[in-house]
Amino acid sequence: METVLVTGGAGFIGSHLCESLLKQDYRVICVDLLDNDLTELKLRNVDNILSNPNFFLYSKNINIFEEISSIFESNQIDYVINLAAKTGVRDSFLNPELYFETNIFGLFNVLKLASKYKVKKFIFSSSSSVYGNNKKIPFSENDLVENQISPYAVSKRSGELLCKMFSDLNDLDVVCFRFFTVYGPRGREDMAISKFVRAIDSGEHISLFGDGTSQRDYTYVSDIVDGIVASLKLKSRFEIINLGDSNPITLINLVRIIERVLGKTATIDFLSSQVGDVDVTFADISKANKLLNYVPKVSVETGIAKFVEWYKN
Ligand SMILES: NC(=O)c1ccc[n+]([C@@H]2O[C@H](COP(=O)([O-])OP(=O)(O)OC[C@H]3O[C@@H](n4cnc5c(N)ncnc54)[C@H](O)[C@@H]3O)[C@@H](O)[C@H]2O)c1
Repeated sequence: METVLVTGGAGFIGSHLCESLLKQDYRVICVDLLDNDLTELKLRNVDNILSNPNFFLYSKNINIFEEISSIFESNQIDYVINLAAKTGVRDSFLNPELYFETNIFGLFNVLKLASKYKVKKFIFSSSSSVYGNNKKIPFSENDLVENQISPYAVSKRSGELLCKMFSDLNDLDVVCFRFFTVYGPRGREDMAISKFVRAIDSGEHISLFGDGTSQRDYTYVSDIVDGIVASLKLKSRFEIINLGDSNPITLINLVRIIERVLGKTATIDFLSSQVGDVDVTFADISKANKLLNYVPKVSVETGIAKFVEWYKN
C-alpha cells in the first residue's frame, strides 16, 4: 500500500482528495492546522474518514520545519500533495506577509523534505490567478505569466518557480496544477458560489462586484480530484498543468443558475470591481487531457445543484 502525504488535507479540496485516495487504497497522512478557530470546520470536513484505519490526521504547521520533518522521519512517504496555503485573492492585499510565509516559505519546507526523502512525486496546487489579466484565451500553460495582479497570485507563481528549482536541482518529479475556481460541497465560505447560495436562500442581498460580465471557469471539486489522483502515476520530471472546466460563465449567469436551482430570486447590489479581480479565467485543458486523460464530467448546472443539495442538508 502506497502512502500519500496531503498538506491542507482537512481543507475543502484536501478533504475530497483524501476521501478519494482512501477509496483507491492509498494510505493517507493528512497534515493541517487544527489549533485555530477553524478547527471545528476542518474536523467536520474529514468526519466521514476519521475512523478509516488508513487515514492519519496530524495538526502541524508547514511553516515550522521541525513539525513536518518529524512526519517524514516516522513514515515511509511515497507521494506529497501540497495543498496547504493561505487562500483568497482579496485578503492577500490585507496580509501579504502571511501569504508569502505559507505559500512560499512553507512550501519550501515541504519541498526540502520531499527531496531529502526522495518521494516519487510532488504535487503543488497553483492557481489560474498566475495568468493575471491574460489577453489570450483560453489560458494555456505556454502563455507568458508575468503579470500577476495580487499578492496571492505572486505567491502561487513563486511557488511554481520554487518547484521547478527543486525539480531541477534534486531530480524531484513535480506537477504544478493551476486550478480554476473550484467549487462543490464543503466549499470555502469566502468564495462566490458559497456566499451567493447562502444569501439568496435566506433572502439577503448579494454584492456583485463589477457589472456582472466578468467570467470564471468554475470547476467541480471531483473533477479536480480526479486530475490530481491521475497525476500520481504520470511519468515526467516537471509539468505545469491547467485543471479547469474550460467553459467560463459570466457572474450574472452564475447568479441566474443559482436562482433556478434554489427557486428563489436574488436581490443584487452592484458594486465596483475589486482590486485583484481578473476579468476572465478560461482554461485550455488540452494538456491535462493528453497527459492525464482529464475530462471534466460535472457541468456548472449539475455542480451547483449538488452544492445546493449539500448546503440544504
Ligand atoms: N478553491 C479554489 O478555487 C482554488 C483555486 C486555485 C488554487 N487553489 C489552491 O488549492 C489549495 C486548496 O485550496 P482550498 O480551496 O481547499 O482551500 P482551504 O483553505 O479549504 O484549504 C487549505 C488548507 O490548508 C491549511 N493550511 C493553511 N496554512 C497551513 C499551514 N501553515 N500548515 C498546515 N496547513 C495549513 C488550512 O487550514 C486549510 O485546511 C490551496 O493551495 C489553494 O491556493 C484553490
